[in-house]
Amino acid sequence: MDLSTTYLGLNLPHPIITGASPMVDHLDLVKRLEDAGAAAITMHSLFEEQITREQQGMVYHMDLINNANAEALSYFPQADDFRLGPHQYLEQIRLIKQVVSIPVIASLNGTTAEGWLEYAKLIEQAGANALELNVYHVAADPTESGATVERRVIDIVQAIKASVRLPIAVKLSPFYSSVSHLAAQLDALGVDALVLFNRFYQPDFDLNALEVVSTLHLSTSQDLLLRLRWLAVLFGRTKAALAVTGGVHTSEDALKAVMAGASGVQVVSCLLQHGPEHIKALVNGMRTWLEEHEYESLRQAVGSMSLERNPSPAAFERANYMKVLAAYRMA
Ligand SMILES: Cc1cc2nc3c(=O)[nH]c(=O)nc-3n(C[C@H](O)[C@H](O)[C@H](O)COP(=O)(O)O)c2cc1C
Repeated sequence: MDLSTTYLGLNLPHPIITGASPMVDHLDLVKRLEDAGAAAITMHSLFEEQITREQQGMVYHMDLINNANAEALSYFPQADDFRLGPHQYLEQIRLIKQVVSIPVIASLNGTTAEGWLEYAKLIEQAGANALELNVYHVAADPTESGATVERRVIDIVQAIKASVRLPIAVKLSPFYSSVSHLAAQLDALGVDALVLFNRFYQPDFDLNALEVVSTLHLSTSQDLLLRLRWLAVLFGRTKAALAVTGGVHTSEDALKAVMAGASGVQVVSCLLQHGPEHIKALVNGMRTWLEEHEYESLRQAVGSMSLERNPSPAAFERANYMKVLAAYRMA
């Protein structure tokens, strides 16, 4: 069974890629990921705040500067809290490239089109095969319109596209007022891939301690459903390739994402839970299913369940929403 796919201009033997995570900090683990069959690996992010702290001796963030809010500065982690500083990050790319032969996707994470983006060039020089940009941002400023929020993403991507030749992926959040509109704008800029979706960290409250509890919960297959919808909506409407991140735990999950339109399938939580060897189970499970269902190749399945030929995905979604509400029967 031919499971090959093209993602970010990279010809991969199958679509299973490790998503951004600290797994890349350990070279022995990186080797195990390659041995388990990962088609490519994504580095965890290098953050704008880390870079600006180093460049200017301070955390640069527009909101904080504007508000001159010293307390807000204290929210940010200290330099020592990060596993790799900016220089170590570049060195880690070089080391990983020496240890494995699979493609390495670096990750930059920030929200302004400022000087920190010089690191895109350094990442390219360090030997990364592609760059994923994560623009994690909670749009909490009531004076800022949705268009302005989108504009910032466009500005960052434009700046990066102007400085490097690397293939660029943008890891999106589902919380834009129009995901389709932003995707179309990024596509027009020549972005090579869109990664759906950032999994937002969701603080909880401890009622007894009256404290905010910041725990990173790993995903479940339930997280996949939001991604399936948007993969299906965007597939065929962008030249950019699509990748899924969030909620892929089984080979069935991976196949659903592929059929919705993903040509890259990123996994993190399931590897943290079951170890790198879980990649083999995912790939073998996909192969077996496609063979049993008489597919000739994985490419034949990509987008086969998408809304590509549907002239009005919005009307389709609304009709299904009404149908599913009307069909519910009280016990
Ligand atoms: C421990 C941990 C660290 C992560 N670090 C990053 C990061 O640095 N940058 C990033 O874009 N995503 C990061 N992520 C998010 C993952 O790349 C991925 O998008 C998310 O976990 C959803 O995929 P999953 O359901 O396969 O876990 C991290 C996730 C985990 C669990």
